[in-house]
Amino acid sequence: AADEVPVLCVDGPTASGKGTLAAELALRLGYHYLDSGTLYRVAGLATRRAGLEPEPAHEAAIADLARALPLCFDAGRVLLADEDVTDAIRTEAAGMDASRVSALPAVRTALTELQHSFRRLPGLVADGRDMGTVIFPDAPLKVYLTASAEHRAERRHKQLISKGIPAILADLRADLEARDARDSNRSVAPLKPAQDARLLDNSFLSIDQSVEQVLDWWRQAQPFE
Ligand code: DC
Repeated sequence: AADEVPVLCVDGPTASGKGTLAAELALRLGYHYLDSGTLYRVAGLATRRAGLEPEPAHEAAIADLARALPLCFDAGRVLLADEDVTDAIRTEAAGMDASRVSALPAVRTALTELQHSFRRLPGLVADGRDMGTVIFPDAPLKVYLTASAEHRAERRHKQLISKGIPAILADLRADLEARDARDSNRSVAPLKPAQDARLLDNSFLSIDQSVEQVLDWWRQAQPFE
């Protein structure tokens, strides 16, 4: 049964380093990896492609799109229908659209089953906002990443500059604070630590140090070995 498949949840705000940490954990444990933000990003993109604004007036239509996303993951690329949208979903605008569609309850419901389907042996590392609180509440380990807005904006800034994408630090910080506020204040599945989550502030940790800390918790927490 699915509940016998171990799940390690990594939740936290925008640009907290969740993605990097979760992908590395999946690699080290030999587990599957769910980047749930990608699903909301693709849903946001599909919304735009359908000529709709990502807003409550179109909730039912957007949920229909989300339920039937012709989505495919192939060697690190994300395909929507047959189009490679890997880069298109990573822009700041796509992040903001994702945040907007993700605030619509029917859209969250529409994506639940797809997220559960990633839970397969030998195990899953799931990254997002509500992995531990809503999608996999029975997970033996839930990590909640925190890092100051200042640190997160700096990281995002370095990332973009290193890819040759021009970016303004103050704008990035304002954007991520706006996104945090929406993700934290929405009525369904708001961004918040699960009651039984372990808090990890990685402001002053290297990626390696964060990975080691979580693997340590995983050895203590997981009842399958
Ligand atoms: O992690 P990310 O930046 O790719 O996520 C994009 C948006 O999707 C984020 O602002 C909120 C939403 N999201 C969500 O509501 N629930 C998740 N489990 C993952 C992402």
